[in-house]
Amino acid sequence: MKITITRSEHSRINEIDFDNLQFGRIFSDHMFEMRYKNGQWQQGEIKPYGPITFEPSMMALHYGQAIFEGMKAYYADGNTINLFRVKDHHQRLNNSAKRLCMPQIDEDIFVAALEELMKADYTWVPKKHGQALYLRPVMFASEEYLAAKVSEEYCFYIITSPVGAYYSEGFNPVKLTTSENYVRAVKGGTGEAKAAGNYGGSFLPAKKAQENGFTQVLWMDAIEHKYIEEVGTMNIFFLFDGKLVTPQLGGTVLPGITRRSVIALAREWGVEVEERKISIEEVFQSAENGSLTEVFGAGTAAVISPVGLIHHQGKTVTLDQEKIGDFAKKMFDTITGIQYGKLQDDHGWVHRVSVG
Ligand SMILES: Cc1ncc(COP(=O)(O)O)c(C=O)c1O
Repeated sequence: MKITITRSEHSRINEIDFDNLQFGRIFSDHMFEMRYKNGQWQQGEIKPYGPITFEPSMMALHYGQAIFEGMKAYYADGNTINLFRVKDHHQRLNNSAKRLCMPQIDEDIFVAALEELMKADYTWVPKKHGQALYLRPVMFASEEYLAAKVSEEYCFYIITSPVGAYYSEGFNPVKLTTSENYVRAVKGGTGEAKAAGNYGGSFLPAKKAQENGFTQVLWMDAIEHKYIEEVGTMNIFFLFDGKLVTPQLGGTVLPGITRRSVIALAREWGVEVEERKISIEEVFQSAENGSLTEVFGAGTAAVISPVGLIHHQGKTVTLDQEKIGDFAKKMFDTITGIQYGKLQDDHGWVHRVSVG
């Protein structure tokens, strides 16, 4: 499928202060748009970023068929932009689409759309190490019909937003609390999909956590409230006696792309990795007896986030992590090194786009 390209007449790039970028507030000159109707995707188009018009009866607003992805493009050199694990993000988008009864997107179209968008907006990829162009593919039900059923029409967009270095002021360990009254996902639900509704449902408990001085909620399993699942927009890892342990997937946890990268690299370094159930008691006990040495979150936004404190039912464990731990730092340096093309990519994770 050929993608048509309509270039914006006036670039807004000169209005942007690349030294003061706020996450997700500014959008590049162009976006990709593709619509699905009559059982198939129509021709995709790169066009100027701007408002889209829908009637209030648009089904996504009423019944929540909406999914998205979050990925980043990194400045490698004047002619090259690096995309990270594109195929994995594409696969996860299609898995989310399947769960929400939405149409699949061909890998070729997904990749071509990203490449064309990078070519149109490569000057928007910030150049400093740590900065990136955040890429947000999003699909939603666009049929205008008030019936609680599967939509027959969809829109797919990719919008992009330049983002600053996550750790410009150093690694600031996050403080997590479990939630007594709320859960994020239950087996058989939509937890392993990147469905918009999962986030909407998490805002109330997250708000309560923040009001109590915590950064984010540490989600527990919905049945026993005993096993750790993940954090707001990150998967979680524990280093117990040199062994890397992370909650197993199994339907309720979002299968993070960063999680997968962390596991692969750790195994290559000869570190034993376990994906299994981790009870909150195990974390507290291991912290007390000193066998828990590092805790960190892993996700596209921060790559690696050290965890400094975990609170659960009135008990608190502080991890001696005023700064990032050695293992987490090595992981952060390795993943970002690969992303920016400073370290060799032995895994085929980087998709280089020639621009300029
Ligand atoms: C709920 C949730 N868990 C984990 C992650 C981490 O996934 P990834 O590493 O693919 O960004 C994200 C971010 O996408 C998320 O929203």
